[in-house]
Amino acid sequence: MSKSIQAIRGMHDILPERIPLWQRVEDGARQILSAYGYSEIRTPLVEVTELFKRSIGEVTDIVEKEMYSFEDRNGDSLSLRPEGTASCVRAAIEHGLLMQPQRLWYRGPMFRYERPQRGRYRQFHQIGVEVLGLAGPDIDLEIILMTARLWRVLGIGKVRLELNSLGDPEERLAYRQHLIDYLSAHADSLDDDSRRRLHSNPLRVLDTKHPESQAIVAGAPLLTEHLGETSRAHLDAICRGLEAAGIDYQINPRLVRGLDYYNRTVFEWITEELGAQGTICAGGRYDGLVEQLGGRATPAVGFALGVERLVELLELAGHASAPPLDAYLIAMGEQAQREAPLLAERLRDALPALRLQLHCGGGSFKSQFKRADKSGARHALVLGETELERGVVGVKALREEAAQQELEFEALVDYLGAPRG
Ligand code: HAM
Repeated sequence: MSKSIQAIRGMHDILPERIPLWQRVEDGARQILSAYGYSEIRTPLVEVTELFKRSIGEVTDIVEKEMYSFEDRNGDSLSLRPEGTASCVRAAIEHGLLMQPQRLWYRGPMFRYERPQRGRYRQFHQIGVEVLGLAGPDIDLEIILMTARLWRVLGIGKVRLELNSLGDPEERLAYRQHLIDYLSAHADSLDDDSRRRLHSNPLRVLDTKHPESQAIVAGAPLLTEHLGETSRAHLDAICRGLEAAGIDYQINPRLVRGLDYYNRTVFEWITEELGAQGTICAGGRYDGLVEQLGGRATPAVGFALGVERLVELLELAGHASAPPLDAYLIAMGEQAQREAPLLAERLRDALPALRLQLHCGGGSFKSQFKRADKSGARHALVLGETELERGVVGVKALREEAAQQELEFEALVDYLGAPRG
């Protein structure tokens, strides 16, 4: 036998038994997004590399180390998308969507060459939202309340909201100098990455994962202390709104995010139940990005949630397997086998929501019955020569004690269509 081929490290098959959990997250999100008046957008999985360099930032982990970039046959540098914001903004500019505010959402796979571990994959899935053209804290509040509603709908309890403001570019520039001064004074104790970023992207040093550098960062000056009045008021308005809506939050002055395009609001929803990769949803405001990518100045805010992480949370909470089949139809004898698909079609016409599986592949009565039992169906429907002659279908309950019945078509429809607890 030749050697079998396996999936790429960090990229996973999602097998049928886990799909109900995925659908629960996806359907829940879709319903809520639609109820809030958001429109879905679909963009390509591949974009020119330049798009991500210009939006996420050259000196970020994603662009420096994690992109799947390659030259196509034309010699153009392309990349698998590591996130969705840049593509959404590109599409909005390209198709002239910026004449009025846009509330957009998307879902799909993203690609980052990260070290795989629990909750961190090289192909992962996001559901994301991008609102373009609205500047006020009211929309920041709306998207946070929308995520809080999603957790309620999904039955996800133990998550906490962290919030911060990164201020406006001028405020950040002034703060940046304070930070560089402080970090330079401690440069000897910083790890290599942090030392390298000290001048190119000092804010990212605040996000360091190195314990020694973290100790230095703990004493660093805070951006929140350097916010101007408007940025302060923006953050305060969100906080008041969250309090009024009864949503708990914590201000985390060290929350900086790993992408460069943010200003003012940034937030993350975090759980302790997933180990190190506990951020299930993250986002913020990015008022400068549209202009930076060649569009007219347009304020914007958004977030993305990690579907794998939500699915794992649901799994830990013991949620949901697939709904069982209502019926499994077996047929004995040549004529009954010809009739069975037609009977199945008539039942599907009469009961569009009926979950009915038709036995295929023949076999003895005993082996067909075994399959019916294994399918998890509530009922076996039996069509044999005698049933055919009498114009009935045999109905055997598989999950409870009940006498076998013989029902004519109309009675069978009533029986299968009747609500069950
Ligand atoms: P992000 O923080 O890079 O932000 O990713 C958002 C979420 O995607 C994370 O909180 C996490 O749940 C999930 N995620 C990220 N990387 C991985 C991975 N390697 N494996 C599994 N899950 C992962 C963004 O992508 C921004 N575009 C969010 C945004 C939209 N900001 C404004 N609009």
